[in-house]
Amino acid sequence: MFDVAGSEVVAAIMDHPDASGWMKEMEPQATSETGTVIHEPQNGDGRRTAAIVGAGPAGLYLLANLLEADVFRRVDVFEAVPAPFGLVRYGVAPDHPKTRAISKVLAAGFDYTEAHYFGNVAIGRDVSLDQLRDNYDVVVFATGMRGDRSLGIPGEELPGSIGASELVAWYTGHPEAPKITFPEDLETAVVIGAGNVALDVARLLARDPASLIATSMPRAAVETFQKSALTDVHIVARRGPAQAKFTSPELREIGKLDGVDIIVHPEDLVLSDDDQAEVDQRRQAKTTVKVMNEWAEREPTGAPRRIHFHFWRRPVRLLGETAMRGVLIEPTRSQPGTGAATESMEIPAQMLVRAIGYRGSPIPGLPFDDATGTVPSANGRVIGHDGDDDVISGVYVSGWLRRGPSGVIGTNRPDAGEVAASIFEDLARLPAPDGTPERLEEHLDARSSSRISWDDWNRLDAYERQLGQPHGGEPIVVDDVETVLRVINESSRSD
Ligand SMILES: Cc1cc2nc3c(=O)[nH]c(=O)nc-3n(C[C@H](O)[C@H](O)[C@H](O)COP(=O)(O)OP(=O)(O)OC[C@H]3O[C@@H](n4cnc5c(N)ncnc54)[C@H](O)[C@@H]3O)c2cc1C
Ligand SMILES: NC(=O)c1ccc[n+]([C@@H]2O[C@H](COP(=O)([O-])OP(=O)(O)OC[C@H]3O[C@@H](n4cnc5c(N)ncnc54)[C@H](OP(=O)(O)O)[C@@H]3O)[C@@H](O)[C@H]2O)c1
Repeated sequence: MFDVAGSEVVAAIMDHPDASGWMKEMEPQATSETGTVIHEPQNGDGRRTAAIVGAGPAGLYLLANLLEADVFRRVDVFEAVPAPFGLVRYGVAPDHPKTRAISKVLAAGFDYTEAHYFGNVAIGRDVSLDQLRDNYDVVVFATGMRGDRSLGIPGEELPGSIGASELVAWYTGHPEAPKITFPEDLETAVVIGAGNVALDVARLLARDPASLIATSMPRAAVETFQKSALTDVHIVARRGPAQAKFTSPELREIGKLDGVDIIVHPEDLVLSDDDQAEVDQRRQAKTTVKVMNEWAEREPTGAPRRIHFHFWRRPVRLLGETAMRGVLIEPTRSQPGTGAATESMEIPAQMLVRAIGYRGSPIPGLPFDDATGTVPSANGRVIGHDGDDDVISGVYVSGWLRRGPSGVIGTNRPDAGEVAASIFEDLARLPAPDGTPERLEEHLDARSSSRISWDDWNRLDAYERQLGQPHGGEPIVVDDVETVLRVINESSRSD
């Protein structure tokens, strides 16, 4: 019905010869082999209920997967902040409007009348895991990751040093992001990491700030970029171009920025035999090495801003006492072919951004693997606290929280498909909950009036589109909950 990820998987499942059997088993008062009541329908139609926690790509692809099969009478999506779409709204760069527009595809699950949105409702703050388990047959966590990994080096806590997730959350208008001001004397920034987040951050810092006016960036952030006198951004990678995680279109885009010269040091591009093997095997590695070599040959044009790439280097210390004034970086290998060590160097800089990966935090009541920042699972089924193969019945995990902080939006399609397959496989065996989603909804309504429905989100979306009209057409993100609630109230009164 929808062009939404993973639907093929569900279609395949529903074509499965056993599918009608599951439907039959879900009829009222069916019992399992052990005599457990499989499902006691609360509304008479025998279909099941699910709660999805997190309205990012993983949660919303799954929503469509579950509802396409027509075995759920109700699927409720709980989202901690008012607006849906997770990192598509609060991660994807404001100067990438086409990618941000994927939100339209993700919204398709809400076309089903069985889908309900509970924005501004955080699990762990407003509702507990136990409350979800008491009221739904199936509970799925797709809460992604929001914190930053740390470098663990002296000076990391100095003013001017910041994690990419914090910076990105601020410039995309996340309502919980602390407001950021750039150091007044900002001329040079250092970005650590060789992934696409490092490219996003470097590009946004280096691009002509006037071009940000036409983006979805909140106006206060646009003003901050416009006021900065930044001229140089250094990207520091601990391995070489063959190992960098940049994807090709995003890398090439950096080389096309108006008013920006790209500086690459040819000695960083000398390949060892291992590097060459990597280049021969991986197309992305081949492209990165090729593009870097092209850039190394370019003569600087005297452009007002520069992006410098440094490979095979890592930061060892941030310099400065009350604020950062530089970073010491050291080589991570000697020059291939010569055996000569490259020198340590100091980059004078007023800002350092760690773009070395996001990090998840524990969900109260669920096991958590601290090393990976993920919830341990088997095909999406959450594995119990004692670490053996026992799964927590009816509780699942999807997306970054399941796999770790890598993969593009589309990677969450097959991920959601796999989790949906596990859910459909288990459904007939799951015991019925004591309560119902309606009971939980009543409880929530009694406690708080600031819950956001899907209609409310559409009201906010319309308002943001209106805000963007005079500036080029992209909707401008409203970045505080108070304004969000006021806009929704005013707009619903005038409906
Ligand atoms: C800075 C950045 C830029 C990116 N840009 C691109 C790009 O241009 N193109 C691309 O293809 N991929 C991009 N990605 C990758 C892509 O965004 C991810 O693959 C994808 O968003 C992960 O989906 P997810 O649903 O697992 O997590 P998320 O997108 O993080 O969604 C999780 C959702 O859960 C909610 N949540 C968290 N805790 C709770 C709670 N307790 N209760 C209720 N809700 C909760 C969060 O608010 C969030 O809405 C980018 C990633 C980052 C970090
Ligand atoms: N436009 C887009 O499509 C887009 C935009 C943004 C993000 N994304 C996606 O979102 C996902 C996350 O991106 P990401 O950039 O956060 O992660 P990433 O792709 O995993 O890159 C992280 C980078 O940080 C480096 N790193 C990790 N720990 C380090 C340390 N202690 N010191 C120095 N460097 C360290 C890694 O180096 P090593 O390789 O040596 O570990 C790697 O270069 C990716 O799948 C990405 O493609 C896509």
